[in-house]
Amino acid sequence: MSLIEARGLQREYADPRRSTFARARTQTALAATDLDVVEGSSVGIIGESGSGKSTLVRLLLGLDRPTAGTVRVDGRTVDATASARSLHWLRRQTGLVFQDPYASLDPRMTAAQIIREPLWALGIDGDHRARVGEVLEQVGLEPEMGDRYPHEFSGGQRQRIALARAIVHRPRVLVGDEPLSALDVTVRAQILELLIELRRTTDLTLVLVSHDIGVVQNLCDTVVVMKDGSIVERGTTGDVLLRPQQDYTRTLLAAIPVIPVAGD
Ligand SMILES: Nc1ncnc2c1ncn2[C@@H]1O[C@H](COP(=O)(O)OP(=O)(O)O)[C@@H](O)[C@H]1O
Ligand SMILES: [Mg+2]
Repeated sequence: MSLIEARGLQREYADPRRSTFARARTQTALAATDLDVVEGSSVGIIGESGSGKSTLVRLLLGLDRPTAGTVRVDGRTVDATASARSLHWLRRQTGLVFQDPYASLDPRMTAAQIIREPLWALGIDGDHRARVGEVLEQVGLEPEMGDRYPHEFSGGQRQRIALARAIVHRPRVLVGDEPLSALDVTVRAQILELLIELRRTTDLTLVLVSHDIGVVQNLCDTVVVMKDGSIVERGTTGDVLLRPQQDYTRTLLAAIPVIPVAGD
């Protein structure tokens, strides 16, 4: 069953380049797109910068409003115009990790407060303190580290905290928008290992935007390739990476780096 189902999903922006004399123009960040994310699967999204990857994931999560089309999550239509409270059902099912672990963490809050916040905001029952300790351990941090502030952590540790916050409420789907791109190579390999472990030990569905073939190869069952706001190729990870059908995909694959995976 599809946990996420996008139909004719489209997003246009007013073109900032238009001159006073030109007719109002729009720029298509995402052209009418269909996408199905099967429960328990892992989908990689690759494509050059500006190809619409972030636009697509923002729309899937109801963080942006489509110009046309629909998104259904678990069979329920996402209405991005709805109030924050009436989107709680969607927030409970989803977790999100961004590229920059520093910008996404409130510097005035301790790690434990940051990680606990979704439990509180979403009104989730149970022992929040215990749950925070549990996820801290799950992402490879000591429970005592919860008392520290973001600036006291390294970049890799901050991304672990961001990840802990994204999974603390046990979402069914984790969405990462280039979650490893800002990290140095060694740390990237560690966080990748962590994501692989998460996939192995939970039935988490994963939607992962990545510039990194190694990440996609190790984590994703299927891959979609984006160019100029459209999905131009899609298939199993093996097929797309080894037997790309489009020249664009071949060029893209040749240009993007492979990171070493511990144990390889
Ligand atoms: N808020 C916005 N306003 C205007 N244009 C935007 C906005 N967000 C994205 N775009 C445009 O939409 C296109 C796709 O952007 P994006 O989804 O961020 O691409 P990617 O994540 O693949 O780099 C780009 O041309 C970008 O300039
Ligand atoms: Mg992006």
